[in-house]
Amino acid sequence: MKNICVIGAGTMGNGIAHVFAQNGFSVSLVDVSQDQLNKAIATITNNLDRQVSKGAITSEVKESALNNIVTHTSLAAAVKNAELVVEAATENVDLKLNIFKQIDENAAASCILATNTSSISITKIASVTSRPEQVIGMHFMNPVPVMKLVEIINGYATKKDVTNTIIELSKQLGKVPCVVNDYPGFIANRILMPMINEAVYSLYEGVAGVEEIDTVMKLGMAHPMGPLQLADFIGLDVCLSILNVLHEGFGNPKYAPCPLLVNMVTAKKLGVKTGEGFYTYAKGSKELMVSERFKK
Ligand code: CAA
Repeated sequence: MKNICVIGAGTMGNGIAHVFAQNGFSVSLVDVSQDQLNKAIATITNNLDRQVSKGAITSEVKESALNNIVTHTSLAAAVKNAELVVEAATENVDLKLNIFKQIDENAAASCILATNTSSISITKIASVTSRPEQVIGMHFMNPVPVMKLVEIINGYATKKDVTNTIIELSKQLGKVPCVVNDYPGFIANRILMPMINEAVYSLYEGVAGVEEIDTVMKLGMAHPMGPLQLADFIGLDVCLSILNVLHEGFGNPKYAPCPLLVNMVTAKKLGVKTGEGFYTYAKGSKELMVSERFKK
């Protein structure tokens, strides 16, 4: 496999394009907005520079990675020669189904169609294509260049040789693949999101403050970030939407999102991307400050 098409140039899409390009693949990066594509290339350049300055890669690898990426605003043109398409568009079911119909119509018959969805059913996405046996979940973690895991999700119809191809490909990217089946939240978010929800409940019920909750989990369980900081990093809207998928998918009240999380999303306090969640994020500052709302 040589030609990869990545759809969506947001945080996940640019990270996925980065790791494929760094490992010698030709990447077509697609987005509806040229502005978003330009931002993605700037982010990839910054992240490659950071790797060069840390001695993780050479400047030749950086240059060849950047040369390996071509940007497109036309999906049809970008998927034409792809052997694998990795979709990393916004986490919205209707949008993804529409994108998969278009990919299916324009990609070669042999092309494998992967989605980076964090919680939407692979089987449902596959059902709108003419090749459900070639549709698979390839769930990268943020930040993609750093995190080792690729959660590979078999849809109901995914063929074994397709899974094996994606396992091998993930290894070529220096990642560790883990194969799971297609049930709500897969494994990563089925376990991560209830932990985040429980942290929000602990705050909501006044068991402890933001810093205490995060410090317990950082120092007590060796997590690199506490669950509330991680929720801000992922985006509180994304956390809420995944919890709703778990709640609806299993019909079990244990997944019901905490009312505080729902309120924060309604108030557009979404975490890092809006500058405020459980913490506040001033531009250019690395200091972590508890949001005014949760200060004691
Ligand atoms: N590109 C390249 N390198 C990057 C990077 C990026 N975007 N972001 C960070 N790095 C590198 C840094 O250069 C640094 O490299 P060295 O170890 O060689 O020095 C290393 O990563 C650590 O970065 P920092 O020193 O800046 O900061 P840190 O030590 O606080 O680590 C972190 C930052 C890697 C994000 C760490 O806090 C962490 O692991 N957090 C948890 C992340 C996590 O849980 N992600 C999964 C979220 S869930 C998800 O993605 C899926 C979903 O469906 C919701």
